[in-house]
Amino acid sequence: MDLLEVMATAGAIRDYLDVPNADRVLYDILNVARFAPSGGNRQPWRVVIVKDRHLKASIRELYSEGWKEYMAHVKKGLVPFAPISNGRWDGPAIDLDEAATMTFHNQYADQLDQAPILLLLLVRLQDLACLDNGLGRQSIVGGGSIYPFGHNILLASRSYGLGGVMTTVICRRESQVKSLLDVPSEFAVAGLITLGIPKKFFTKLTRMPVEEFTHIDKFNGVPLDPLSG
Ligand SMILES: Cc1cc2nc3c(=O)[nH]c(=O)nc-3n(C[C@H](O)[C@H](O)[C@H](O)COP(=O)(O)O)c2cc1C
Repeated sequence: MDLLEVMATAGAIRDYLDVPNADRVLYDILNVARFAPSGGNRQPWRVVIVKDRHLKASIRELYSEGWKEYMAHVKKGLVPFAPISNGRWDGPAIDLDEAATMTFHNQYADQLDQAPILLLLLVRLQDLACLDNGLGRQSIVGGGSIYPFGHNILLASRSYGLGGVMTTVICRRESQVKSLLDVPSEFAVAGLITLGIPKKFFTKLTRMPVEEFTHIDKFNGVPLDPLSG
């Protein structure tokens, strides 16, 4: 499949059929995903491939707990855990204890342990040159050394006929996940990627047109016009 088509059609897939020869396919996917860029080429990623069904069930439980916190925000019309005030996060905008008592059914969360391939994406913090640390706002640069790798996994999967999704709700339970999977302290949980053969194939993705996010010269400048030369 042509790269441009892969990029334009690798939408989030959360409903899967089994993957024949899953280890073989996953190896091939990771073998191209590893060419992702990272700051200083330090390649701070590690991947735990969770296969054990008890571990998978525990991950599902932890994800569901995070999902409640996510949805408790959504219910109040808030962007979950967003650094809204002066680019900083001011602490929970919801009552986390109350969120834990809520029920939000979500097919993906409920069936997470049934995903044919479940990858925990880890990042070694000491390897991240976070050039925007100390700017008095939420740091963002470090993520650039891990998520291109994660997205490469999704693009390569698409190319091999698989589909998947990057999820981060699990990060709400980082310490529990780390102790469950014996992850050393210097690593952070960057996300969870699930993959499989898509039950339903890709439809057109909903994304902003270029004109909506481009500005010539100044932030309020006119958008990029493909006809202007
Ligand atoms: C950084 C990041 C975090 C995400 N976290 C979650 C998540 O925790 N749970 C989930 O179901 N999807 C998660 N997603 C998937 C997005 O919801 C999805 O990419 C987006 O809604 C676009 O969906 P579409 O490709 O179907 O249009 C995440 C995606 C990214 C890039």
